[in-house]
Amino acid sequence: MALPIIIDCDPGIDDAIALLSAFVSPELNILGICAVCGNQPLERTVRNALQITELGGRSDIPVYAGCYRPMFRAPIHGQFHGQNGLGKTELPPPVKEVESLHAVNFLIESCESAIARQEKITLCSLGPLTNLATALSMKPSIAGGIERLVLMGGAYREAGNRSMTSEFNMLADPHAAHVVFSSQIPTVVLSLDATHQAILTPEHVARFIAVSGRISQPLGELMAFWDRNDVRRYGSRGGPLHDPLVIAYLLAPALFTTEKARVFVEHESELCMGQTVADWYGKSGQEPNVEIVTHVNAEKVFALFYGLLARYAENS
Ligand code: BDR
Ligand code: CA
Repeated sequence: MALPIIIDCDPGIDDAIALLSAFVSPELNILGICAVCGNQPLERTVRNALQITELGGRSDIPVYAGCYRPMFRAPIHGQFHGQNGLGKTELPPPVKEVESLHAVNFLIESCESAIARQEKITLCSLGPLTNLATALSMKPSIAGGIERLVLMGGAYREAGNRSMTSEFNMLADPHAAHVVFSSQIPTVVLSLDATHQAILTPEHVARFIAVSGRISQPLGELMAFWDRNDVRRYGSRGGPLHDPLVIAYLLAPALFTTEKARVFVEHESELCMGQTVADWYGKSGQEPNVEIVTHVNAEKVFALFYGLLARYAENS
């Protein structure tokens, strides 16, 4: 049976690649896509989610609009996703409409109905955690309907990518991250420590363009825009495959090594706001609460994505 999942995201170039990969994975039953303020303001992440859903031929998946703002801090937006959040890619205006139910209520209703059926849902978070933290603040009991949260966010042994200490998704809503990491939901974390092991080089991009059939042009544009041209930082041309690793982890967890640790999120200090701190060696006296991915078999992960995105050629 396909794994029931909800994808909470802020598209965003790498969110878009993650969505397109998930759409062609029959192992995943995508119950809905929630958009949140993050890489772009909410109106734009909703629109991008609708457009990507149509590009992927998955208009059957409902899209829900979530929170307009982080819990407490002022919004910040992504710096590497271009003006509209999808680089220079121009997709047709969406025909599909956003659902009228709020994403937070969708999360609550989905978890409650899973609990009533004695089932559980896997949540995939590709952006700031505002929607989930708000849902947990409104109804903490929904944690009982969540099998696992697999999220992209944080930086442990790596430095931050938006501030010296902090990764974008954590810095964009550190208070939400604090709520979620305090919630006891079984959590797997794909942080910068993992995503910097999977750099999407121009050679990879050329191969994706070659295999991906009817989406090859927009996919190639998205991926080419993602090139940071920062060899000093990444060791090669290209950009880290952040959000798609969440989907790869769901499909092929054997390609990832994890270590358990207690994680704390700095949500008070100005200098280190949004920093994720892992207690690797039991200094806090508290039990581990997450599994942090420490190693990625990047070659096999790229092979997985070639296979997935080639399905768009099969379906042309
Ligand atoms: C994360 O920040 C966003 O810009 C990306 O979409 C990804 O979710 C990486 O730090
Ligand atoms: Ca994202």
